[in-house]
Amino acid sequence: MVNMTKLKHAISETLPSASKSVAYVIGVTPVDGKPVLAKSDLDPKILAAINLESLGVTGALGKTTKVAGPSTSVVVLIGLGENQDLDSLRYVGGVASRELGGSSHVVVDIPLMSASQTLALFEGFLLGNYDFQNYKSKPTERELSKLTIVTKAKPKSNELAELETIVAAVHACRDLVNQPANELYPEIMTQQAKKSAKGLPIKIKVWEEKDLLSAGLGGIYAVGKGSSRPPRLVKLEYKPSGASVSLALVGKGITFDTGGLSLKPAESMVGMKYDMTGAAAVMQALVAIATLGIKVKTTAWLCLAENMPSGSATRPNDIIKIRNGKTVEVLNTDAEGRLVLADGLSMAVEESPDYLIDVATLTGAATIALGNRYAGLMGDAEAITKVEKASASVGELVWHMPLPEDLRPLLDSDIADIANVKIGNRAGGMLIGGLFLREFVDADQASKPAWAHLDIAGPANNDSAAYGHTPRGATGVTVRTLVQLAKDLAK
Ligand code: BES
Ligand code: MN
Ligand code: ZN
Repeated sequence: MVNMTKLKHAISETLPSASKSVAYVIGVTPVDGKPVLAKSDLDPKILAAINLESLGVTGALGKTTKVAGPSTSVVVLIGLGENQDLDSLRYVGGVASRELGGSSHVVVDIPLMSASQTLALFEGFLLGNYDFQNYKSKPTERELSKLTIVTKAKPKSNELAELETIVAAVHACRDLVNQPANELYPEIMTQQAKKSAKGLPIKIKVWEEKDLLSAGLGGIYAVGKGSSRPPRLVKLEYKPSGASVSLALVGKGITFDTGGLSLKPAESMVGMKYDMTGAAAVMQALVAIATLGIKVKTTAWLCLAENMPSGSATRPNDIIKIRNGKTVEVLNTDAEGRLVLADGLSMAVEESPDYLIDVATLTGAATIALGNRYAGLMGDAEAITKVEKASASVGELVWHMPLPEDLRPLLDSDIADIANVKIGNRAGGMLIGGLFLREFVDADQASKPAWAHLDIAGPANNDSAAYGHTPRGATGVTVRTLVQLAKDLAK
């Protein structure tokens, strides 16, 4: 992983000795509005010399203050916040690794009472240890090479290794998403999928442009046909023996979204390299699921196209046919995600999976409704419950949104089965996106999967300052939720 410094780590009951290269991270909690130093194994004389109030330390979550430590080391006071739940520990871990990249050995010595707390701190630290520098001619060096967590609450080594696998998948997802669209297009995503699957029990099938036509994948074809870089559908399949549950993942993989002939204005187009986050997330989630040997039959469908305007592009009013036989009148070529997903969902449904989850940067309306940290979650109750549980346990934010029946007639088309948008309508854009997708999850009752749709237009990319374990740029969101979901389904 190019953007992750390889980190040695140790869980130790005793404090490593001081030197110039060591940063000791110790905790501060707010108690009745006053900062209190958390228990630490550092020399009590050193701790007694730290005057929290005069340093302006409050204990607010993730706030750091550096003071001189023993033998030219540094002591970093870090706010543990009010709640001190697992997610604040992930947050604290993330801040520590992001801010202390200049020290070669970070020693975290905050009170950790249980193995799950130690794991959360460890996970946050690894997630935060990421800095995308591939395109800098002079990358800034990160010295950080070792993490020691001081605690008696030791996790098992396989639990630590599992988190390393999951974080590697998150980092790989971020790498793909941060890549600019001049270097990452459907063919390259396909190569990357093959590369990531190498040596793992994963089967890959690719539909190239001519195969899309012959397989009736009219949505992916129509969105990709304006680009000189042809579209693709890629299926990754992991079939462990002894699995009794099956999970299909479908990801929106628009490697760049100009809007097509319904061209976006200049400012709205910036950032549209992130429009393949769904595909990158489901790809890397499947890779982690296979690496961990989770006993769930899992498929990932990457719906890949570049949405460009040109003489060969799809026009407004064109009618296309999706894999499941339904015809769509394209009224706005910028509502392209739902067209590629319609094919991906149709393909997934044909295999009658028990659960079907799609992940997409689908609508700007999702960010209007929920801001930049929550994903919108829509679909069938059974799948919603499972996704909510998985996301809560890994600390990714989702919010259940409705699919109101009264909005469905907005998509009625005069001459096709359905239109992809209602021109001029601004109400409930995220929900209408969900209602459109639902049309392609239809199957007879017996084989119908429990379906959920995640609109990640907000959280896919962080264009504000880094916080906790979330860097600027690509976040890798939903990879951890999807892996957790597979773990839950395997139980
Ligand atoms: N990729 C965009 C959605 C998006 C917007 C993601 C902003 C991240 C940030 C999607 O393809 C799109 O353009 N959606 C349209 C839908 C509309 C035409 C119904 C939108 O949101 O304007
Ligand atoms: Mn679009
Ligand atoms: Zn898009």
